[in-house]
Amino acid sequence: MSENAQKLYYPPEALVKNAAVPGMEAYQALVKQAEEDYEGYWANHARKLLDWHKPFSTVLDESDAPFFKWFADGELNVSYNCLDRQVNNGLGDKVAIIFEGDDGKVSKVTYKELLGKVCKMANALKSVGVKCGDRVVIYLPMSVEGIVAMQACARIGATHSVVFGGFSAQSLRDRLESSGAVALITSDGQFRGGKALPLKPIADEALSMGGCEAVKNVLVVKRTGGEVTMVAGRDQWVEEVMAQQPDTCEPEWVGAEHPLFLLYTSGSTGKPKGVQHSSGGYLLQAVLSMQYTFDIKPDDVFWCTADIGWVTGHTYIAYGPLASGATQVVFEGVPTYPDAGRFWQMIQNHKVSIFYTAPTAIRSLIKAADANEKVHPKNYDLSSLRIMGSVGEPINPAAWEWYHENVGGGRCPIVDTFWQTETGAHMITPMPGATPLLPGSCTLPFPGIQATVVDETGTEVPWGQGGILVVKRPWPSMIRTVWGDPERFKSSYYPADFQGKLYLAGDGAIRDAETGYFTITGRIDDVLNVSGHRMGTMEIESALVAHEKVAEAAVVGRPDDTTGEAIVAFVVLKGPRPTGDEAVATIKELAAWVGKEIGPIAKPKDIRFGENLPKTRSGKIMRRLLRQLAKGEEITQDTSTLENPAILDQLKG
Ligand code: PRX
Repeated sequence: MSENAQKLYYPPEALVKNAAVPGMEAYQALVKQAEEDYEGYWANHARKLLDWHKPFSTVLDESDAPFFKWFADGELNVSYNCLDRQVNNGLGDKVAIIFEGDDGKVSKVTYKELLGKVCKMANALKSVGVKCGDRVVIYLPMSVEGIVAMQACARIGATHSVVFGGFSAQSLRDRLESSGAVALITSDGQFRGGKALPLKPIADEALSMGGCEAVKNVLVVKRTGGEVTMVAGRDQWVEEVMAQQPDTCEPEWVGAEHPLFLLYTSGSTGKPKGVQHSSGGYLLQAVLSMQYTFDIKPDDVFWCTADIGWVTGHTYIAYGPLASGATQVVFEGVPTYPDAGRFWQMIQNHKVSIFYTAPTAIRSLIKAADANEKVHPKNYDLSSLRIMGSVGEPINPAAWEWYHENVGGGRCPIVDTFWQTETGAHMITPMPGATPLLPGSCTLPFPGIQATVVDETGTEVPWGQGGILVVKRPWPSMIRTVWGDPERFKSSYYPADFQGKLYLAGDGAIRDAETGYFTITGRIDDVLNVSGHRMGTMEIESALVAHEKVAEAAVVGRPDDTTGEAIVAFVVLKGPRPTGDEAVATIKELAAWVGKEIGPIAKPKDIRFGENLPKTRSGKIMRRLLRQLAKGEEITQDTSTLENPAILDQLKG
């Protein structure tokens, strides 16, 4: 092995023995199976892992590439696969969800109870006229109701689009309009860090902005008891509607390609795109990755700390664990309330055995533990843990080592899972009972995924050489299209540069010269990753220039110890360049503005003013220079092509 050999961590014997993928030979055998009979590999899993109402006879249909179809003539229902089949298999009394509120209050829901709730919600949706194929937007906090709402949509064949509770009225409005939603499910508010925050008032504002007249019904969950205005004829308390509904509801059998959900995510240009996912292929990989990547077993307690507003919360909260018949923890709050020991306390209390979180959370909890002994994981009994995961951004080796040692007690493999909203499920990840781990590397492709690294022409580069991450063959849980914009789907993911044959992930990668292990080197487009949240620089720029004082803005990322990347905005005002107190006040005003336009997660950490931006003579903004300025680096390269080199001094931090 390579020079990295001494840094490799091998899976514990006990885990290998009972693992779904027991050892590297088993992993290689799966890879080989998929290589030799690609369709057969996926079809076998699809038959074994899902219940089909009507079996499929075709597997992969490439006739309209890159609009690929999987299992197209098969019929199933996702909610049936997640709930009814568990109940039918004797798991009705098994706990499906252990819900812990922000205030620490715990409630448990069994599979039978969850099925009843989902049926009532499904009937409630039907009662207000929602039909198969309609879109429903869900703007809810982390809650049992959020999962119930998603499952209820799936049950009746309505396509949901969950909007993260931290997004602004404007962002919600844009998604309501773009998806053409007929109904909105929201709550009066949400609890986070001991505070009650409003949601329904934001939803009201979104609906009043215009463009979402298709929304005829708003169902409101009661959570905080905060004051809300109910619009007669449009708004109803969901509990009241559900109370009148039966707790059974025949699932709507849909084709495998039926759109289960749209999830809006940022790209390098334009407004966020509605990533459309399928029913059959999506669910297949949700379940398969629960088995292979998380090695889920009947006695496991699974906890994914993501929010249902992101794809991780879709695949590894709302669908994967339920379709696997697992018990999972769902958490409403934040990792630092009432103190930064919350995660460790919860792992201890609920005997969590598989824990899946983001590097940002780990890095901030390292800082907190360094500052305050009391919240260090060593103070808690974390012996229930057997597997841990990481997702959303690269995990730096130091954070990896800390997580491994202090949380996992040196005995739990860490699965560093690389994937995206568009991929639906894990793409490159260790198998916990097989893959020797290298901190900072997501290691090798999920069995069946044909990932590789190419140059600008689409030619594979040798191991050891950096390049562009691509996927060679379509996979079942992949994005089907960009909602309402098939051209954008093609140009974003199957660009002509690669003759439309390779899926472009948008990330750079390098494979270790000897092991072939992948390391993700970061986005190669104008997408930022702040605390694992994906944001387009253009989106933030558009928000800034929408402010009456702003003439021009350019946004770049800068490495940040805690959040991975931080947002830096270079702004030219219509009036004179502000200094002193005026600059401080304007920075505050603009940051608040972006928070209101997009959501607090998009607020720039650093805003700098110039009389202009560094531009070439043809007027192109030189972002490379801005990135250097953002990092505080000296500009050493030739700036003679700049129209206005003097401007650089103004833009230094
Ligand atoms: O840049 C990669 C990064 O997150 C992007 C996808 O973001 P999103 O669609 O929001 O989905 C996040 C959760 C799946 C990728 O293009 N990313 C995600 N996981 C990793 C990662 N970068 C490095 N290592 C990872 N494990």
